[in-house]
Amino acid sequence: MLNTRRPRRNRKSAAIRAMVEETTLSVNDFIYPVFLIEGIGKKEEIVSMPGIYRYSLDLLLEEIQECVDLGIKGFCVFPSLGDDKKDKYATEGYNPDSLYNTALKEIKSKFPEIALMTDIAMDPYSSDGHDGIVEKGEILNDETLEILGKMALAQAKAGADILGPSDMMDGRIGYIRNVLDEAGYTQVSIMSYTAKYASAFYGPFRDALDSAPKFGDKKTYQMNPANTSEALIEADLDIQEGADMIMVKPALAYLDIIKLLKDNYNVPITAYNVSGEYAMLKAAAEKGWLDGEKVMLESLLSIKRAGADIILTYFAKEVAKILLERK
Ligand code: PBG
Repeated sequence: MLNTRRPRRNRKSAAIRAMVEETTLSVNDFIYPVFLIEGIGKKEEIVSMPGIYRYSLDLLLEEIQECVDLGIKGFCVFPSLGDDKKDKYATEGYNPDSLYNTALKEIKSKFPEIALMTDIAMDPYSSDGHDGIVEKGEILNDETLEILGKMALAQAKAGADILGPSDMMDGRIGYIRNVLDEAGYTQVSIMSYTAKYASAFYGPFRDALDSAPKFGDKKTYQMNPANTSEALIEADLDIQEGADMIMVKPALAYLDIIKLLKDNYNVPITAYNVSGEYAMLKAAAEKGWLDGEKVMLESLLSIKRAGADIILTYFAKEVAKILLERK
């Protein structure tokens, strides 16, 4: 008896494979995370993230121009600060004249059409390297909200389109939404880092910003990698509190969580393909153990297939080039 069902018929030529393809990567899917440092004419490679640099503002503007020319529309800026700019209360985080806030203003005025995303968290500015105020070894929640609210307002004033609270304090989305609305910034969006896990995959990022915690870890605020249900609680709260978009972070080791949130909520789902995930593929490719381009595309495709509408990825520029060449 011959098989009448032969799934291979739908794979028999490139044309048919293309026709039945369910998931397609587009340059519209990506937000490119970029690192900002003080100075002029500075471009420093991040050792554990080959191909990714910290730029002074002048060169960052050039980098953004190149990416815009490739079709990238979303950018998320992270500041890298010297220890002299850090203190217990992350006050530099809401200084309107800080490196970060002046850069946001400049970027937005040069590129009004892009979606400019920010990071809201104390850690790049905190002498303790934590995302909240530290008191006797504890991370204070409600006291931290005030600082996050001030950071949000400063970033909104600087012209940010999407604010990204990445700190995992309880109640921050509602608090920030309220601060923004009361000041008239009702049109500024919030993309919440909703299911942010206490992951070892953030290592290279913390090197890039010199933002590793000075003691302990982030397990009292970031989620336990063993847990799923908590992601639903966090998503419920964030959406009730006013998040426009929700995020899962990291991406590749948490594809089930991306799918879970996609299946349960109607807001756009973002996945953060984090620094360690980038470093891992780059390292294997450098050794010649994996085909770097292919595993990059396959990884990004898997994140999108799992349900991500938006992907924050250090691969954005590289993929954008490939997608252009394919056209
Ligand atoms: C800080 C923040 C982190 C990342 C984005 N925002 C690190 C952390 O929580 O320690 C990680 C991004 C990456 O690894 O690419 N709040």
